[in-house]
Amino acid sequence: MPNDESDAISAFGPDFPFAYDDWLAHPAGLGAVPAEKHGARVAIIGAGAAGLVAGYELMRLGLRPVLYESARLGGRLRSQRFEGTEGIVAELGGMRFPVSSRGFYHYVDLLGLETRPFPNPLTPAAGSTVIDLEGETLYARTLDDLPPLYREVAAAYHQALEDGAQFSALQAAMRARDAQRIKAIWDPIVQAWDERTFYDFVVSSQAFRKLSFRHREVFGQVGFGTGGWDSDFPNSMLEILRVNLGGFDDEQRYVVGGVEQVAQGIWRQAPEKLTYWPAGTTLAGLNAGATRGRAQAIAHNGKGGFAVMDQWGNRDDYEAVVVTCQSHLLTTSIDAEESLFDQKLWMALDRTRYMQAAKTFVMVDRPFWKDKDPDTGRDRMSMTLTDRITRGTYLFDNGDDRPGVICLSYSWMTDALKVLPLPAERRVELALSALSKIYPGLDIAGHIIGSPICVSWEADENFLGAFKGALPGHYRYNHRMYGHFMQADLPESQRGIFMAGDGVSWTPAWVEGAVQTALNAVWGVMTHLGGRSPDGNPGPGDLYPALKPVDLVD
Ligand code: ARG
Repeated sequence: MPNDESDAISAFGPDFPFAYDDWLAHPAGLGAVPAEKHGARVAIIGAGAAGLVAGYELMRLGLRPVLYESARLGGRLRSQRFEGTEGIVAELGGMRFPVSSRGFYHYVDLLGLETRPFPNPLTPAAGSTVIDLEGETLYARTLDDLPPLYREVAAAYHQALEDGAQFSALQAAMRARDAQRIKAIWDPIVQAWDERTFYDFVVSSQAFRKLSFRHREVFGQVGFGTGGWDSDFPNSMLEILRVNLGGFDDEQRYVVGGVEQVAQGIWRQAPEKLTYWPAGTTLAGLNAGATRGRAQAIAHNGKGGFAVMDQWGNRDDYEAVVVTCQSHLLTTSIDAEESLFDQKLWMALDRTRYMQAAKTFVMVDRPFWKDKDPDTGRDRMSMTLTDRITRGTYLFDNGDDRPGVICLSYSWMTDALKVLPLPAERRVELALSALSKIYPGLDIAGHIIGSPICVSWEADENFLGAFKGALPGHYRYNHRMYGHFMQADLPESQRGIFMAGDGVSWTPAWVEGAVQTALNAVWGVMTHLGGRSPDGNPGPGDLYPALKPVDLVD
């Protein structure tokens, strides 16, 4: 990992300031379960990042995780290879990973995978950036190359964060990992902003009130970090603040050859240290080489445990269950016995709002965009942010002598819905038509090789949406889901089933949320089976009473 200075910003808090990275790295390990529980079966629903991390760590504790997966191992860590190529991929799900995601990079490093800076707008990795709004096309390498309005917008958001959220003080506390100071600043912000939107935050700020509507509009299109966040304007401001505070939209990297290697790697990795199982044991091995199919039903088994039935009607007993799929699949795809969860939790699970996201990729013969325009000396094509249908266009250089990849379009919400019913070819045509207005005379199509690859996560019955985007008033729902791994006060009938995934985390749409909640579930399962963390390395549940997210009264 490129950035491991101890005072760098990391995903530490602000809601639950627990050091997941330190917990993972501690030589004493995460904990132990009593020997009579060794080999106990734990069902894990979903083999995405959360399911695999939970499975891997539970295996290391001497338990037997059994994974159920209805689609592809990796979940939204999905790298689709262009036909006929070696390692030329389209990243359909997670593609850019902020270095502040320490939990995630723990596994990237464990697997020895190579990462590189992601070609985001106005970053050195992109080389150049084109911003095209209302038909005006601007070319820039850094923010300073753009007209003053862009710097005014950036400065205004910066100021709004200071005024509205004590941004630098809070980030300083996060860097210092000062949990009490974080809570002192953050908890009142939760109270103040849960029910107010990102748009409200922007328009009601002194900094933006001084400026024109055009400034707000440009902010929506060009935003901060990776680009336009206007599709999040209706979301709860808390969600955006967490992104800014945790550095999620900054210093992002991609995994060379595809992030799915992280998923495949965890599946096949033989841990250096593990309890009970013989050296060389892997998740793949314990699962006889493959996951079970789709989990169709989850219920109590009448013996203090659970019965999980797969899509073929095979029923197996488990001592605990970890559910990692999008939560609304518990009411659409999986027959989950109602008594497994409290009605308040069902409310939270079903109210979870998932956003739409669509991507369209093509492979090209070579990274032709680096050719210089003879008249202007500029790159022939650039990372492009626009108000047109493509929204964000990203260029992936795999080397001068290898095919390049263009993500012609990455869009959210209404922009994603525009292409939802359309086949890949039509999406490519629409994108090329939009780009031809930005790059007149450039023949992108002439470079395309192979077949396009596209995704609309909302069209996939295994997801029904790309990622959670909390709406105003959703803090309590998030809190119920996130805190559910603390089960000491739950009725007996509701214990032993745990939830994990970015969708139950405070940072949806970021794999770090999947890793952190998976670790919560690991602690939960371990404790449920009578185990505990070592004294020198307390787990998330041990520190939860002291550090838990603030309660908002009902
Ligand atoms: N992490 C994803 C990305 O980098 C999604 C971010 C968007 N999240 C959101 N709530 N709109 O593109």
